[in-house]
Amino acid sequence: MTKILLADPDPRSRGDLQTLLRTRGFDLDAANDVAAAIAPVAEGDVDLVLCDTALPGGGGMALLQQIRELQADTAVVLLSAFGSVQDAVQAMQHGAADFLGKPFAPDQVLVAVERALEKAALRKENHALRAALDDRLRLDNVVGSDPRMQAIFKTVKAVADTRTTVLITGESGTGKTLLARALHALSHRRNGPFVEVNCGALPETLLESELFGHVKGSFTGAVRDKTGKFEAASGGTIFLDEIGTSSPAFQVKLLRVVQDRLVERIGDTKTIPVDVRIVLATNKNLERAVAAGEFREDLYYRINVVSVEMPPLRERPGDIPVLAEHFLRRFAAIHGRPEMQFEPSAVAALLAAPWPGNVRQLENVIERAVVLGKGPDIGQDDLPTLLPTRIGAATTAPAREPLVAANAPLAPLRDALAHAERAIIERALAHCGGNREKAAKLLAINRSTLFHKLRRHSIH
Ligand SMILES: Nc1ncnc2c1ncn2[C@@H]1O[C@H](COP(=O)(O)OP(=O)(O)OP(=O)(O)O)[C@@H](O)[C@H]1O
Ligand SMILES: [Mg+2]
Repeated sequence: MTKILLADPDPRSRGDLQTLLRTRGFDLDAANDVAAAIAPVAEGDVDLVLCDTALPGGGGMALLQQIRELQADTAVVLLSAFGSVQDAVQAMQHGAADFLGKPFAPDQVLVAVERALEKAALRKENHALRAALDDRLRLDNVVGSDPRMQAIFKTVKAVADTRTTVLITGESGTGKTLLARALHALSHRRNGPFVEVNCGALPETLLESELFGHVKGSFTGAVRDKTGKFEAASGGTIFLDEIGTSSPAFQVKLLRVVQDRLVERIGDTKTIPVDVRIVLATNKNLERAVAAGEFREDLYYRINVVSVEMPPLRERPGDIPVLAEHFLRRFAAIHGRPEMQFEPSAVAALLAAPWPGNVRQLENVIERAVVLGKGPDIGQDDLPTLLPTRIGAATTAPAREPLVAANAPLAPLRDALAHAERAIIERALAHCGGNREKAAKLLAINRSTLFHKLRRHSIH
């Protein structure tokens, strides 16, 4: 039975509440001061506390804070005969479910109690979800309940302790870098270095000297000997990111290391053996690059021994609530707001979003909601960048974020435009509840054009 604790020093007010709530079938208990109220709460058998702000022994606000620390699942409704707006705001900020000014009408109390109990049930559900984030769903900080992610975890665990080269592919923000780190952390090389090189960010000549090192005087600017990253990573893991854009000449050099684990510093003839595990990542389709003659076939086969494809977030919707909860816990802790939780409307909005920026975008959306959120509950309104209404607003007001993220990979214009078009159509459809006629109107295109585009983008 649902148990309500009445923490009210005034016997008359307590009596009224008792009469009212007993008729609704609640199990009731009473307390005269903060200490007497804390005891049953600490034991975990109270679902809701109705608490007067003038409670002896510290006051209702102090009781509220103690309850929040002790039993976050217990709901608290504050009652006050002299309540000001500031008090109410403060109470809500500290996680009260509601704040009622005395005297109150019976209906008011009943509504507040029902609502608070509903919220408490939601909180419990959230805790259950959190508990589900146990080892089965994660691999060294990588969260994923989707079967494809589970299969990836299995592969990573199986090969972690070998020196096998691992290729990680997937769209930007799907967790390639995170997985590479996890692989290193799970291997017996974990105490050795993890050296990351972004091969797409450096001009060719610099990249070579960065990776292989050089000897003094080998080229203009080589004023002293330099150890390359391969040597520096010896005993550990080297992570070569954005491997898909490298030149054929560079690919030949890479092939040599991948095959023989031997490097030569630029300008030197001495070969140096390196004991490294090589992990590579790309958001390009290498098979297609090989077919187009942009990527050496022999290198592709060498690095494609164990390959892992990170699925885009939109293809694993089951991971969205799990990841959202993971990020909520992380950012709530960082920003000192442990009370925060999602309302069902927020979870629905998260599930409906297309996530072109994948997990990175989700992470940013949640952090923003934690930082800017007013109360403990995150609702749909706290996720403004996901609200589909922005499409309609975009024609009159400037968009709040660029359509193409600054860090989005550079793709052929045609592909990039197609990607953006798809995202816009999906948002329009979501905004119109899947109604194609309305979506076409919103996008100011005729219906047959929309149907044509839906087919082309395989949107069903
Ligand atoms: N499965 C996951 N569990 C927890 N956090 C994740 C997961 N996947 C990604 N992240 C987080 O999302 C962000 C983006 O991930 P990451 O940098 O690994 O993506 P990426 O695929 O390497 O992107 P890029 O191609 O742009 O380099 C990181 O902050 C990472 O910690
Ligand atoms: Mg990365």
